Amino acid sequence: MAAAAPSQLRILLAGAGAFGQEHLRRLVERPDVRVAAVADPCSMALDAVRQRHNSITCFEDPQQMLDQTPADAVIVATPAASHAAITLHAIARSLGVLLEKPVTLGPAEAEGLARAAADAGTLVLPGHVLRFSRDHRKLVEIAASGILGRVLHVRSRRYRDDAHAVRYRDIDPVLMTMIHDIDIALWIARSPFRSARAWRSTGGFRSLTAVTAVTESGVTCELQTAWTFSPGEAPPDRVEVVGENGGIELDTSHGLVLHAEGRRSLIPLAMDDDALANEQDHFFACLRDRNQVPALNLRDAVAGLRLAGAVCGSLRDSREVRLDV
Ligand SMILES: NC(=O)c1ccc[n+]([C@@H]2O[C@H](COP(=O)([O-])OP(=O)(O)OC[C@H]3O[C@@H](n4cnc5c(N)ncnc54)[C@H](O)[C@@H]3O)[C@@H](O)[C@H]2O)c1
Repeated sequence: MAAAAPSQLRILLAGAGAFGQEHLRRLVERPDVRVAAVADPCSMALDAVRQRHNSITCFEDPQQMLDQTPADAVIVATPAASHAAITLHAIARSLGVLLEKPVTLGPAEAEGLARAAADAGTLVLPGHVLRFSRDHRKLVEIAASGILGRVLHVRSRRYRDDAHAVRYRDIDPVLMTMIHDIDIALWIARSPFRSARAWRSTGGFRSLTAVTAVTESGVTCELQTAWTFSPGEAPPDRVEVVGENGGIELDTSHGLVLHAEGRRSLIPLAMDDDALANEQDHFFACLRDRNQVPALNLRDAVAGLRLAGAVCGSLRDSREVRLDV
């Protein structure tokens, strides 16, 4: 295995499934990092890594990888149930962590990670990738600029194919997919949620989940996730913000439309944007310069998980759930 050039960060990857491979594909193209090792208990996943990148050291156990490989940071792209244990182990070894969403299955575990990271002075960046999408950033920048007046309402929808219900049978669509919409709503509203009411078309994961939630500041949010579409059929993701003096909408196939100051303006999609590459850029920049303020932190992820928990509670009990402030 080639030694890292002095300026290269040494990066570990835990989880070489579909999304771990997305991370890996970008990492191996980067001149500023070296992939020091990959861990996955699945031999097929490791075979796929070895076939494409035969110089990368592979482990079946992520904790063994963390213990045995000198590194600066780890990207955790394993199923959510394993995130906390791997991240705590990495924090104990003073490694920076880029932690895929949902950072944990519930807010209490994420609060534990936030405390451990703060005590150790370690960077843990939640992998809420849309925070690094140029189109989503544009929408949030415009909403925050004041041109729409006070933000009153956020609507966000994300529809996926029904294979998700088979692939991700161990995790609720609220935690797997709607967590993006929840994070977007928090990002725009800049206020925690005070209540949520949720409905689901069936009891299973192949279903539509519709949520109405209200923030402490009074922003109403309508969030929808469906895992019901046939492959290739799902409509584009869509986010809409309504303010006192106008609105802005993002359709991820077509672009942004701003309704403000008496006119309608079209803003084209950013060309060749790669939100995951941008997220990696930001993570590595924060690792190199600890004075740089991360775009989001574990406290933001905790706020999202509190709403996700309230949504799941509302689905279970068929009633509005109030969140303690
Ligand atoms: N940001 C996004 O848009 C986005 C998109 C997809 C997935 N994700 C997240 O990425 C993570 C992985 O999702 P995926 O789609 O790649 O799932 P996946 O099922 O395709 O892959 C998960 C991989 O992790 C491995 N694994 C399981 N337990 C492990 C452990 N303890 N240590 C190391 N590896 C382990 C599995 O063998 C598998 O290869 C999840 O947290 C998911 O929510 C994020």
